[in-house]
Amino acid sequence: MMDSERLFCEKDLDGLRKAVEGELSPKRFFHVAAVEEMVARLASLYCPEQTVSLRAAALLHDVTKEWTVEEHVAFCETHGIKVSAQDRMAFKTLHARTAALLIPERFPQFSERTVVNAVRWHTTGRAGMTLTEKLLYLADYIDLSRKFKDCVILRQFFFATEPEHLDAKGRKALLRDALILSYDMTIAALTADGLPIAEDTVKARNRLVLDRAAKKRETI
Ligand SMILES: [Fe+2]
Repeated sequence: MMDSERLFCEKDLDGLRKAVEGELSPKRFFHVAAVEEMVARLASLYCPEQTVSLRAAALLHDVTKEWTVEEHVAFCETHGIKVSAQDRMAFKTLHARTAALLIPERFPQFSERTVVNAVRWHTTGRAGMTLTEKLLYLADYIDLSRKFKDCVILRQFFFATEPEHLDAKGRKALLRDALILSYDMTIAALTADGLPIAEDTVKARNRLVLDRAAKKRETI
């Protein structure tokens, strides 16, 4: 995995977009295209220099989402990754793993650390997420193709504060608070459905909540 130099440029994204479109149903690709647009919008607020990498990550984040559970399990196992009973039950998290594994093999030009890690952690998150990981995670939750109530609530929460008018500190706090709200809603929904909560999700939320508490103490 390369991270020292950019392996691709903006015009390479056109070929990637076509390749991904060929892998997915029209409905899924519509969502992927909307995530690409949203992540570019978020990158313009937080890290414009990462826009191309984040667009690539958005295009690749759901590239295995339409695989069956058995396909995910087989692919993980051929890469030496054991899939637990909990993973199978929370099967929606498997596609983040398999997509990240697939990138170096099928899309080596896009196998840069920023891209692979953003894809790997876009569903559960993890403790101490990088900025680019947070942005893809959030873009996937609030892209304009999402009509689900929690997604609409989170999109309104984020944009109602007009992040373009905040200073860097305020914008960082907004991103943290948006992620906490997303985890609160996700955990509530999974609990209501009787599904397990991924440890990475719990750890991601805890780290952000601790961070928010520490910032509050600083201002007292
Ligand atoms: Fe997605």
